[in-house]
Amino acid sequence: MDVGCGFGGTLASIGAQRSGVSLTGVNIDHRQLTRAARLTKTTRAGNTLAWLCADACALPLADAVCDVVLAVECIFHFPDRRRFFAEAWRVLKPGGRLALSDFVPVGVLLPATAAAGLWPGSRGFYGKVDMRCTARRYAKLAAEAGFVPSFDRDITRHTLPTYPFLRRLSPRLGNLRLSATMETLFAELASRLGLLRYRILAFRKPGD
Ligand SMILES: C[S@@+](CC[C@H](N)C(=O)[O-])C[C@H]1O[C@@H](n2cnc3c(N)ncnc32)[C@H](O)[C@@H]1O
Repeated sequence: MDVGCGFGGTLASIGAQRSGVSLTGVNIDHRQLTRAARLTKTTRAGNTLAWLCADACALPLADAVCDVVLAVECIFHFPDRRRFFAEAWRVLKPGGRLALSDFVPVGVLLPATAAAGLWPGSRGFYGKVDMRCTARRYAKLAAEAGFVPSFDRDITRHTLPTYPFLRRLSPRLGNLRLSATMETLFAELASRLGLLRYRILAFRKPGD
């Protein structure tokens, strides 16, 4: 299950590489799901593909139904990370895994990320973005939910080429341009200074 699945790119990639998997894309925005369904038509034989409009922090699913929960570059939009960890734990089977990617600040950047969150423009182009979850906080959230950490990789340097690309898109954004430019500049500067790290984190639900 890919929560915050956007236009379905992650599921399309998995569906093209694996057979015999049941894939579900979850998004809070039904318009994105409509587009994801249109773009993600083909998947290998034996796979199933479903789309679910829901908040990742309140999943309309029974307990212990998923092997893997993915949250690629979306947890910073969720209303509450703790609730999301609890939901992921609930829907995962014993032995299942949660993998996510996020912008993780080093402690010294926290006052700046908090201030950036207060600026009215930061509710603009990207919507609500909370980049205040440190590695220590992630460890605490995971432990509280009952997860065991299983993977942690810093891929910041691979994300840096995205920023010049985003800058080239900004002239097309009309009245959201200022908000998008300021927020992207903040993320780029903090990332280039090593204060904001882009990390992939994974956790295992103990069990079979
Ligand atoms: C930056 S996009 C990432 C999309 C996709 N994971 C990708 O990597 O291309 C963030 C996504 O999270 C979704 N989202 C935001 N809040 C959500 C929530 N509470 N529950 C589920 N999806 C949410 C947005 O609609 C958007 O599709």
